Amino acid sequence: MALDWKNLGFQYLDTHCHIKYTSKHGQWDAGELVDAPYLNIHIAATALHYGQAAFEGLKAFRGSDGQVRIFRPEKNAERMRTTARRTFMAEVPTELFVSAIKKVVTANEESIPPYGTGGSLYIRPLLIGSGPKIGVEPSAEYSFIVLVNPVGAYYKGGLNPVNAMVVDGYDRAAPNGVGHVKVAGNYAASLEPATVAKQAGFPINLYLDAKEHRFIDEFGTSNFIALKDNTYITPVSDSILPSITNMSLMQIAEDFGMKVERRPIEIDELNSFEQIAACGTAVVVTPVHKIVTANKIYEVGDGTVTSQLQQLFDTVTGIQYGEIEDRHNWCELLD
Ligand code: PLP
Ligand code: COI
Repeated sequence: MALDWKNLGFQYLDTHCHIKYTSKHGQWDAGELVDAPYLNIHIAATALHYGQAAFEGLKAFRGSDGQVRIFRPEKNAERMRTTARRTFMAEVPTELFVSAIKKVVTANEESIPPYGTGGSLYIRPLLIGSGPKIGVEPSAEYSFIVLVNPVGAYYKGGLNPVNAMVVDGYDRAAPNGVGHVKVAGNYAASLEPATVAKQAGFPINLYLDAKEHRFIDEFGTSNFIALKDNTYITPVSDSILPSITNMSLMQIAEDFGMKVERRPIEIDELNSFEQIAACGTAVVVTPVHKIVTANKIYEVGDGTVTSQLQQLFDTVTGIQYGEIEDRHNWCELLD
């Protein structure tokens, strides 16, 4: 495949095939690889009308030793099951989830960016209610699809700091709502504030807690992390997505002897941090310099990347590319 591996960005690209499974009355079928990137779906499918739709995001990496590593797929399986329960969809067992990913990555091996290009194969599992209902009820049929897409950087420029905006008048997730799960509707709700932020020159937006607008929740597509006095600080909140990247970085920080704090973070605390960053599968670790709200501008650090953040980034990506020992057994090797 003739792709400019070093300049992929984060956009849709066709690959050979996706994999698709169907569950009827609670029983998953054997699944099949499908070449055409289309789905024949009932016009009354619950995914279309009532938002029974969940997705996941993870990556496969071509390592320095030529092997392909999939980063913590069983964690995404677990999270998708939590989302399925909250949206009353059929759960995908972890074994099926991981085996589907391995099959579709193998079938698209030539779409995995070569080692050294900084790219990876983004894996997008999708679970939808595909059966018809006209009353608001859960579907009796579900489709589980995994598609893959070679990607590079989500925000241009690797570890270059970006500025973020808290867009007034928009919340991401209500208390007791669905912010802690990965339902498609959360992202529909994010499109307008994300566009407002982009048009004002901010590639990323930050959400505060919906109840008081006092505490930091997370960014639109990533978790919030802060560094100060050899401490890694990240918000604890019922309405943020439990990020697998954040979970891994917390472990790495501990391995380096840093203190890890998970606690509510007031927006005004921003002034006291040495460094802040966004973390997630797509954004990896993206430093954030300024945060602009309706009435304040917070400037964190001097706009450079601290050696501690660099070390966290180098370690997680080093493990993913097989350059650093995977001491916690996070990577699933492709046979
Ligand atoms: N928060 C939101 C809202 C996200 O969409 C994502 C991306 O999946 C994350 C956080 C980061 O999660 P992870 O590190 O598991 O990709
Ligand atoms: C991810 O990081 O996998 C995400 O889901 C973020 C975004 C591309 C939706």
